Amino acid sequence: MNEAVQTSSSFTPRVFSGIQPSGGLTLGNYLGAMKRFVDMQNQGAFQTVYCMVDLHAITVWQDPEKLRHATRELCAGFIAAGIDPDKSILFNQSQVAEHAQLAWIFNCVARMGWMQRMTQWKDKAGKNQQNASLGLFAYPALMAADILVYRATHVPVGEDQKQHLELTRDVAIKFNHDYGVDFFPITEPVIEGAATRVMSLRDGSRKMSKSDPSDASRINMTDDADTIAKKIRKAKTDPDALPSEADGLQDRPEARNLVNIYAALSEQPVDQVLRDMGGKQFSQFKPILSDLAVDKLSPISTEMARLMQDPAEIDRILGHGARQARALAAPILQKTYDIVGMISAR
Ligand code: TYM
Repeated sequence: MNEAVQTSSSFTPRVFSGIQPSGGLTLGNYLGAMKRFVDMQNQGAFQTVYCMVDLHAITVWQDPEKLRHATRELCAGFIAAGIDPDKSILFNQSQVAEHAQLAWIFNCVARMGWMQRMTQWKDKAGKNQQNASLGLFAYPALMAADILVYRATHVPVGEDQKQHLELTRDVAIKFNHDYGVDFFPITEPVIEGAATRVMSLRDGSRKMSKSDPSDASRINMTDDADTIAKKIRKAKTDPDALPSEADGLQDRPEARNLVNIYAALSEQPVDQVLRDMGGKQFSQFKPILSDLAVDKLSPISTEMARLMQDPAEIDRILGHGARQARALAAPILQKTYDIVGMISAR
């Protein structure tokens, strides 16, 4: 029997993750997600599937031309960061209709109450929930479909996606239970490393985000060396020197954030960074961090700019990835339809 349609609980180790093409990529996306996607690709223990989730992006208004540009730029970012389209499947969500088709089934599995509890729904819809799109409310069901249409076993994400992944597990459990099958895996979130929650450079209590109105709050993957250096120089800090142990970062969110960024960029544990940097003032530490950030990020932004000069090549890569993705997703959707009781063409 084809692996994709077996119903036993032995699932192929498969990674899925996605990033929205809604505006530019930030250092938070890079350290919390993309850099770890590359690690998982190169570990070789998993089949890796990475997606630009354009259907998720339009749950809030997107200008069509900007969306197309942001999707290509995100694809360039994936490749520049080290995703190899020969090793990973790389594509945009709307080219693989199975995501939206499985999402409909999951709209009928998930409960209104589950969606109402989602903190991202509450944050994004704000006070005027009646005026938010229905898509924004159903967003997590599409996300569950993204993952489960490949029966992915592991999903690397930043901390802010944890609740959505718990909902994905709830959808799989309820589907399996309602239909008396062991068809969808109970996905493992992979939220690891020093930078699972990169904070704003202006306010250590807020997440670094592409939607923050202040550009100084974030490092964009397209920022040039001078801009990166300036943003780090101006980053909010406290007056004390860096501690030599992690305990000393408690109640110092801005200091902790910069140390975590350094640890993630230099691929060292936080303890090691503090052993080396403890006792330094921010006036000494910031230029060191800034040099490291420029060193690591400049080659990526240069490569992104180079790739963006050939949009047709990017579209070709996305088309190729979409064909590979459909080959995995189509039999899983078909089997789901069978389980649910749909009659299919014979
Ligand atoms: P999105 O596009 O907001 O973010 C993409 C990834 O970047 C991580 N991230 C961060 N990590 C650390 N610090 C930050 N400041 C930071 N900001 C963002 C996010 O946690 C995420 O891993 N709903 C998802 C996209 C999605 C998805 C999926 C993810 C759709 N379907 C299926 C995984 C599996 C989102 O909006 O991510």
